[in-house]
Amino acid sequence: MKAKNPFKTGSPAAALWAEIDPAALPRHVAIIMDGNGRWARRRHQPRMAGHRGGVRATREIVESCARIGLPVLTLYAFSLDNWKRPRAEVDFLMRLLRQYVRRELDYMRRNNVRLRVIGRWQELPAGVAADVARAVEETSANTGLQLVVALNYSARAELVDAVQRLLEESRSNGLTRVDEATLAAHLYAGDLPDPDLLIRTSGEMRLSNFLLWQLAYTEIWVTETLWPDFSTRHLLQAILDFQQRERRYGGLSPEEARAERKARALGGALLHR
Ligand code: FPP
Repeated sequence: MKAKNPFKTGSPAAALWAEIDPAALPRHVAIIMDGNGRWARRRHQPRMAGHRGGVRATREIVESCARIGLPVLTLYAFSLDNWKRPRAEVDFLMRLLRQYVRRELDYMRRNNVRLRVIGRWQELPAGVAADVARAVEETSANTGLQLVVALNYSARAELVDAVQRLLEESRSNGLTRVDEATLAAHLYAGDLPDPDLLIRTSGEMRLSNFLLWQLAYTEIWVTETLWPDFSTRHLLQAILDFQQRERRYGGLSPEEARAERKARALGGALLHR
């Protein structure tokens, strides 16, 4: 029997959850949170208001992922390219990030959430990096949701960093051959499964230098909804749609393989008549 519905009786989230197979949840959902600026512009507000709205959405989505027992959630919070934004916006984002990490630490402790960070986050302003390091350390033994935040992240830089580490190992231990598993293990969070589902908000059809290696076979779900308006209902819809997709990893579905065997048998019989 299905466990108790974790959402409020009668809510759209509860209705969607009732349709989801909890045994077939994605192991890892990654999200490109986009559209904070447009959300603010539509309201004739400064971009900062959009980012605040983005934090509210982030909080709700993290809580829902923990509640439904999702193993891994990766959020694209700040890219290496985001330094190109006006100084005031970057400073604001840094303050927001610091606030988020500090305020959510208590929630993460109480709810068994483990915070992890990917990207060149040590290069962030010292205070931000210190708060992030503290939260990562203090939640490191938690065994529930792994919340992976991409900070000062670029997928190409991640691949460069992985290759750099491999070169260093080759000097120290004589490593001479690399296969896919070795490279994957040298990524920032090389122990995690690849995302099964990538969500992108605000309708853009781009990967924006996010997890390029890890997304090779990931199902992509794009919504026009802007990140500050993204809620549990959208997350559950994405998971439900994901459960209806057929993943073939370059092969054939069981149904296609059956039809092909049948066609061959029939074709063979006709050919030899
Ligand atoms: C995209 O909106 C979002 C970002 C640049 C990342 C910032 C994310 C948040 C503030 C959410 C909170 C997350 C954490 C972990 C604190 P955009 O500014 O690119 O929007 P636009 O494309 O409409 O201009």
